[in-house]
Amino acid sequence: MAHALKKLSVQVLKNNNVEAIGAVAARSSHWWGQVKMGPPDVILGITEAFKRDQDPKKVNLGVGAYRDDEGKPFVLPSVRKAEEILHSRHLNHEYAPISGEAAYTEAVAKLAFGDNSPIFSDKSYCTVQTLSGTGALRLGLEFISKYYGKDKVVYLPDPTWGNHPQICNQLGIQHKKYRYFDPKTIGFDLQGALEDINKIPEGSIIMLHACAHNPTGVDPKQAEWKQLSEVVKKRKLLPFFDMAYQGFATGDVDGDSFAVRLFVSEGHQVMLAQSFAKNMGLYGERAGALSFMCGDSQTAANMMSQLKIQVRTMYSNPPLYGARIVQEILTTPDLRQQWLKDVKLMADRIITMRSELRKGLEGAGSKLPWQHITDQIGMFCFTGLKPDQVERLAKEFHIYLTKDGRISVAGLFSKNVHYVAEAMHKVSS
Ligand SMILES: Cc1ncc(COP(=O)(O)O)c(C=O)c1O
Repeated sequence: MAHALKKLSVQVLKNNNVEAIGAVAARSSHWWGQVKMGPPDVILGITEAFKRDQDPKKVNLGVGAYRDDEGKPFVLPSVRKAEEILHSRHLNHEYAPISGEAAYTEAVAKLAFGDNSPIFSDKSYCTVQTLSGTGALRLGLEFISKYYGKDKVVYLPDPTWGNHPQICNQLGIQHKKYRYFDPKTIGFDLQGALEDINKIPEGSIIMLHACAHNPTGVDPKQAEWKQLSEVVKKRKLLPFFDMAYQGFATGDVDGDSFAVRLFVSEGHQVMLAQSFAKNMGLYGERAGALSFMCGDSQTAANMMSQLKIQVRTMYSNPPLYGARIVQEILTTPDLRQQWLKDVKLMADRIITMRSELRKGLEGAGSKLPWQHITDQIGMFCFTGLKPDQVERLAKEFHIYLTKDGRISVAGLFSKNVHYVAEAMHKVSS
């Protein structure tokens, strides 16, 4: 091998090709030979299979992005307007502050916690702009492992969004599950959740989906949130809320932050990850935020200083564009009104598709109970379909969804919902 390489190098040298010598040398070094192929992302795998399918009836129910009733990506009218305003200002592209613009972080914190929350007068909180919701979760979990203790365990609902355990794994944080979803009722398992949370060791972290739970679409009712708050308090747990869908669940941004505000009002020192990917349709702009209830203003200032160091050493400063749009919308009264209408329009379309799907199944003659489709909320619906039924949907009907039977309701439109209902009936009867 060494001999062959030498011969080749000499030959290349003769050709006076210095670049080629470099390439040969680099190829022979094998710095990364130990890196194994990782598993593909589940959702992207579905999208790939959908793209390969040439059937005109094909339907993609995997992707977690809103589509209009024609199946097209949707730019919110409020976002378009904000873009026009920003464009007309001829803004520069200087760096944003490490933690994001103060006007942005204040506006997004007020959206989550409510304008009148006492945290704004006593300054006992801190908020940093993050790379959307995922960045907030990552930054928050890293902060926990650095300043709260590497040995602390994060308890995740079973099931949960696939990235929760993955982020913990990347950071070397232990994670366990608490019961959340009851497959028998296809609803929230209140008793199971209360029993499991009651056994979580004091001082652990509990991850809670603030609204529109992904993947199940099953949320606790308000009275159930109160019970959860009590047991979380009794066990002295740190609640970390993931709020990726504020407004998407019910169309009402205040109603959707009920759980977060309840926990704050009951004295929990919550952590909160926020995303504007879904509720403003800013998926690729990566606008999000991470907030902490810190107890007092001095602790808040201390924590902010450390968060800035964390951000500085990862990506220095957050991106401007998406945050500017969010700030413009939240702080301009008529734009905000327009946005509230836009969110409601998206939530209502999803609610309509849920009832059309259920009607379609019942109309097709299905004798199975499908009420959970309309009981669940948000972008996702746990249909209760089994993996073999999901496989049949793909093979026989060109309908793609995750193996756990979750569908993105945003992938249903007036034109395909009845086709999907018929197909679901055929594979489940
Ligand atoms: C439960 C949950 N949390 C967080 C996110 C974060 O999304 P993003 O990083 O795009 O804001 C998502 C997106 O699908 C989600 O479903």
